[in-house]
This record gives sequence, C-alpha cells and structure tokens, in this order.
Amino acid sequence: MTTTAPPAAVRAVGTGHVRVEGRDKVTGAARYAGDVPFSELAYGWLVLSTVARGRVRDIASGPVLDMPGVIAVLDHRNAPHLNTDYVGLMGLRPDPTCAVFQHDTVPHLGWPVALVVAETPEQAREAAEALAVDYEILPHAVEFTGDHPDSEPVDALGGHAPGVTDKGDLAAELAASAAVVDEEYTTPEEHHHPMEPHAATARWDDGRLELVDSNQGTSWVVGELANLFSLDPAAIHVRSEHVGGGFGSKGVRAHQVAAVMAASLTRRPVRVALTRAQMFALAGYRSATVQRVRLGADADGRLRALDHRSVSRTATVYDFVEASAGVARVMYDADAHHTENRVVRLDVPTPTFMRAPGEAPGSFAMEAALDELAEKCGIDPIELRLRNEPETGPVSGLPFAHRGLRACFEEGARRFGWARRDPRPGVRREGRWLLGTGTAAASFPAGAAPSTAAITAEADGRFTVRISAADIGTGARTALTLVAADALDVPPERVTVRIGDSDFGFAMIAGGSMGTRSWSLAVVAAARELRERLVPGMAIPAEGITVRSDTTAQIAALTAKERHSYGAQFAEVAVDPGTGEVRVRRMLGVFAAGRIVNPLTARGQLTGGMIWGLSMALHEEAVRDPAFGGPVGADLAHYHVATHADVPAIEAHWVPDNDSDADPDDPLGIRGIGEVGIVGAAAAIANAVWHATGVRHRALPIRPDRVL
Ligand code: MOS
Repeated sequence: MTTTAPPAAVRAVGTGHVRVEGRDKVTGAARYAGDVPFSELAYGWLVLSTVARGRVRDIASGPVLDMPGVIAVLDHRNAPHLNTDYVGLMGLRPDPTCAVFQHDTVPHLGWPVALVVAETPEQAREAAEALAVDYEILPHAVEFTGDHPDSEPVDALGGHAPGVTDKGDLAAELAASAAVVDEEYTTPEEHHHPMEPHAATARWDDGRLELVDSNQGTSWVVGELANLFSLDPAAIHVRSEHVGGGFGSKGVRAHQVAAVMAASLTRRPVRVALTRAQMFALAGYRSATVQRVRLGADADGRLRALDHRSVSRTATVYDFVEASAGVARVMYDADAHHTENRVVRLDVPTPTFMRAPGEAPGSFAMEAALDELAEKCGIDPIELRLRNEPETGPVSGLPFAHRGLRACFEEGARRFGWARRDPRPGVRREGRWLLGTGTAAASFPAGAAPSTAAITAEADGRFTVRISAADIGTGARTALTLVAADALDVPPERVTVRIGDSDFGFAMIAGGSMGTRSWSLAVVAAARELRERLVPGMAIPAEGITVRSDTTAQIAALTAKERHSYGAQFAEVAVDPGTGEVRVRRMLGVFAAGRIVNPLTARGQLTGGMIWGLSMALHEEAVRDPAFGGPVGADLAHYHVATHADVPAIEAHWVPDNDSDADPDDPLGIRGIGEVGIVGAAAAIANAVWHATGVRHRALPIRPDRVL
C-alpha cells in the first residue's frame, strides 16, 4: 500500500492505556522463561553448600549418575573455565558471584557446588538431594555490627558513587549549632522476591548460544556471558519476552551460567530454575545497614553540619555496597558536609541492587533525622526541608536541571491536609489507638544510557518497533508503544513494540529507573528519521522500510547537571500501645518525575514503591543465624511482606514537571518512576509513629515488640 499523510493523532503520551500484553498475561498466553517449550529439554538442579565456609573435598557423583534419568553432574572438576577479568556494564567490575564451579572454595552458605542434570525436574531434584558432598568446614562469621573493626569505605557503581565525600569542618559547625541530632538508625537484611522466580534455558543452535531467560536486560546478559565464556557477543542470542518482576535481582546470576555450561557439556537444551528458597542465597538481596546521622542547625533550622555514615554488610566474593549515605549528596547542603559508605566483608551471599539501592535505607535514616531536627528546632518538618533547599548539587556543585521538591510538598500538604496538623506528639486518641501523621522527602537519579532501536514502516500501514528493552512488570512495552505512536504521529493501535530480544541490538537495562527514559530517546530518534524517509504517497515494499537509531552520541552530549525525580511522602498511622500494632491508615505521595507517559501504569509503579516502603517500615526482616550462617526461614512464610490487609487508602499524584525549557538538552522530559516511590516512604511512616506515640523508632521494621 502507499502511505498517506498521518492523521492529527491524539497525543498518546499522558493518557491512560491498559497494558498491550495485559490480556496475554491474564489468560496465560504470555510465556515466561520457564514455560517456553523445547524438544529434548533437560533440567538442571543446583546443589547449594550446606556449610557457611569451607572447601569441597569430594563430590560423590558416581552413585547419583546411576539414578533414574540423570544425565550429568557438573562441578568444579569438570566445568568449563570462565574468564572473570573484564569490565562489565556501566564500568562495573565483573561479579564473580555468578562464576560458578571454578574452584573448591565455599564462601557462604548456599554457594552453588554442583548442578545435576536429568530428564525431568523431579529426577534432577531427587538426584541433587542425594548428592553427597564432603566439605572441609572452616570457621565463618556473618554477624554484622556498625562498629565492626574491619569496615572500610568503598566506591559504588563503578566509581560513580565515591565511598567518602567531605567538605568543611564538622566539629566546628556542630559546636556552633543551636540544635544537634546525633542518632543511629538501622535497617535489616531485606530480600526481593519477584513473583516469577529466576529461570533460564540454554541451548546451542548451529554454533550459536541461545538463552531463554528472565532478566532485566537481554543485552546485559549477552555482554556478561560473552565475557565469561570468551564468546563473540554476536554468537549469543538472549530472549526474555515476559518477565514477572525483577527489582534489581535479575541480572546474570549462577543459574544462567550453570545452564550454559550444562548445555555445552550435554549438547542438550538445559533449563535451570531457582526455587523460592534458593533465591534467598542466589538472587541477591539488600544488605542490613547501620547508619549514623549527625545534623547541626541554627535555631531557624538552616543546616550547618550534615554527617551521614553508613555501614553495610557485603560478601567476601564481591564488594556490593548498599550506598545509603548518598541521599544527602543530592538533597541537603551544609557548611560542613560528610557522607561515607563503608562495608564489612563477611561470609554471606553477595548482596545486590534492590529497588532504590542506597536511597531506600538511606532516606529512612536521613529523613527520620530531619524530623528529629524539626522537633528540636520547633519548626514544621516541611518548612525545615524547604529552608534547606540547595542552590546547586551539595557535593557535585552542578546546577539542577529541575528540582520539583517544593512543588511536591506544596501539593502534597494541600491534598493531605497537613495545615490542620497539631505538631505535638502523642496527643491524639481514638479508642485504644494513638494517631499520628508524618512526612518525608524522596529523590532518585534520572539517568539515561545509550540504546539502539529499529522501526519498520510495514506495507500494511502499521509500524513495528524493535528494541531490546525489558518489561519487568513496569508497563514499559505499553509506554514505548505510546512514545512511538506520538513520535510517528499515528494512533497507538498502529504500533507494535517488540522487546526482550538481544538480536534487536544494544539497549539499556530495566534498571536504575533509566529504562523508559533511555529507550524512549532511541525510539523517538528512530521515529524521527523514519518520518524523514517516508514521503506521503510513496510505496512501501513488502519487507517494509526500516531505520535504526543509536543514542550514544546524543547521551554523551547531555550537559552535566543534577537530574533527579523527587517526591513528598505522607503517612497517617494508628498505633495500639497495648499490642504494639501499627496500622497505616493512609499514604499519599506526590512526585515530580518528568513527563508521565502512561498514568495508569505510572500510578501502579509509584504506589507499588510506596507499599514496599510500608512493608519495609513494618514487616520485612531477614534474620541471619550466626550459627549456621543463613536466614532463619528462607521462605515467604517467615519473611513477612505487606499483604492486601496491610495496604491502606493509598494515592500517588504528580505535579506538572515536563517543562522541557527547564532542561533543553532533554526535550522528551521523561524521567524515572521505578524507584522514587519507595524512597522516603518508610521514614514518613516512622515519623508518623513518633507523632502518634512520642517515641522515636530508629530500627526497622517497627515490629509490635519494639513498639511495646
Ligand atoms: Mo533496579 S534495583 O535498578 O532494578
């Protein structure tokens, strides 16, 4: 057919659209990684160490190989050698956590020591459970304290987040302050458990490695596997069409590597899926933190001194830093300003990114400390924050591209009814309940990374977008459909977006709240070029007309500025001093997060983050047993998360924040919403508990036994 002048399309971005794959998901037509059928499929079952530190002396593979259906046993004696000397995504050091079966060392409980491959998952599991592993047991240490003698500051994010920042004279400014807060805040070990457990199927197909996987970025997985197995990236094809949640846990982990090894050795397609219990050891988690915050202010609340020091626990295998002290590097300035992220290396599994890594626990400490400072100064907590709005990045000195925090607080205070609040703590009663309200600020960086996209103008008048984006449940596929529709000036119904396939070229992962922004830039760039190619009336050949974009140069040319999303969190709680029960009655978040692409799914992202903040405030806590070195009760019965009954009336709103004049470098104005929703939510609840009871709770979660 021929093209016609496009209709004056209703702008799709900014209007609510249901998920384009929603029907497939609810009818079961959408296939997740563990569902995709393969002929000749074999199943691998990981065998995890039962000791917390030691050495594998022997693995009795012989008897297991005689069990029904068993095809192979893979361990450090017969596994392919891996290369772990390379620079990974975003300049990150390679994480040897996923480099399995390379040595006989057991660095923590739950370290993979073998993979049993069999004809069925049941046979693989039975054989894995029968496999006798003889260990030399060495003493282990998992107990973590904030004053551990072996802590040291460590840079995070490939050096983007330095271990220490420091300016001014803290002692002098604290001494000159009219009000000082000096407190310790703790957050426990927390685990992310996406609904869809991790699963990967590997097979060799005519000299090419194919991996059907559940991950947050197929290009990322290709890059890591190419490095680890010394393969040409072009010889690897990773597909990840539907992903049932990631939250930071779905990068390259032990099971994908083990699946590739097993497929290589057995010359069969091999699937390795993690059980919920295995995920506690192999999926990564958020480390516990101990944070000391010292704030010094003049009587009018202006900060003279700010000192935030965080210690988190990491593994001996890899230094993952829960960089909690980074919040104030963006949010608050002071004449003397010190932030520090330290780690203690212990015999535990490697922690990893978990929704708002750093910001989630860091904002709990900082925003709770600011509430304490507001009380000491006799200033409203919102007013205290607004008096401390920085002119430029407190550490970077860079200008802010946009800073919507004030607008969030103003709109939030209006909607929440903050002006009616009596600031005195512990004075509101309703029967047995004490009532209180609290607030906290939120921010999360708005980064963008190079991506490529292709758009084909099809002969039937439709458009197909191909980009190796990941929709980990965020609604990214739908958001990109709307972005592409507007950029092509056609209704969304004429656009098909295909994602989750590494053969579509390099693209940013669904991570760091950078996915939709990064991918949209690439989609819009391709759409622009395609529209230049399409002349009204021109004939489209059967194979369509395809153009490709690459935003590497565009992103490199972005001016260095502080770019972030912001939010103001509000909570109302009721506390029963007789039982210690805390009920959240109401949560309200107002966000300045750039142009909101799809209000329907954006609201779900933001309230989802806030609910996780509630869960963090009141429920979540993995207790690591010092004797055996693992979490007590590695399942979702013992690890408490918020349920429907815990979730109150909850609202997320946003303020107009898509003024591209504010950031002319970034005309789309799309920023991240994946993580900002959890930031500050736990602090707002903790501050509300203080307002209800007059008691400060500085250790999360605020369990009934702590309230009593
Ligand atoms: Mo997110 S913790 O960057 O997946």
